[in-house]
Amino acid sequence: INKTVFQGDLLEWYDINKRDLPWRRERDPYKIWVSEIMLQQTKVDTVIPYYERFMSLFPSVEKLAGAEEETVLKAWEGLGYYSRARNLHQAVKEVKESYGGIVPNSEEDISTLKGVGPYTAGAILSIAYNIPAPAVDGNVMRVLARINTIYDDIAKSTTRKKFEAIVREIISTDRASDFNQALMELGAMICTPRNPACLICPVQNHCSAKEEGVQDLLPVKAKK
Ligand code: ADE
Repeated sequence: INKTVFQGDLLEWYDINKRDLPWRRERDPYKIWVSEIMLQQTKVDTVIPYYERFMSLFPSVEKLAGAEEETVLKAWEGLGYYSRARNLHQAVKEVKESYGGIVPNSEEDISTLKGVGPYTAGAILSIAYNIPAPAVDGNVMRVLARINTIYDDIAKSTTRKKFEAIVREIISTDRASDFNQALMELGAMICTPRNPACLICPVQNHCSAKEEGVQDLLPVKAKK
């Protein structure tokens, strides 16, 4: 694929078609962080009201760090996977104590925070700080597996590393935030697990799976 043309096609589509989501109106790394943790195991439509309420209760690192765990868990009630909330609370306290309340903007420092794995680290660095770091989740793996006809098992951690390397090569260096979010948006809206909308896909001309007619076979997820 031609990187410049690919970036142009993807970003032009994103500019016109992106959903107006509450965290997309924000650049505050704390707010991006909370949204990404909530979105990990929960759908966008479910997350929105929780995100809004959480932000009115805990609008900053200081407010969340100063809250009782019980209060935080109460605000999380209904979202499930409560370890996400406990880890987030602990990590935010660490940001207050060790980083003066500023969410770190280096891969090395941000990755030390509880509950911040490679995906979340990359999402915060790119979306909040516009740093060209990969943020590879299931949606992004599906998109990239199809574009590049990659048949590796997406359940393997080595496979995610392979996709991260691809993102590092093709990411827009001046619009890293939009580029990663556009890949996620493409996976959510067009390059869906079943019946992908290839005929209206903005990057169909760059897609090896479409060319070969194998989009329904990708990505490969080996049975446990
Ligand atoms: N899923 C994970 N991160 C997301 C984001 N920033 N916007 C929409 N869906 C997402």
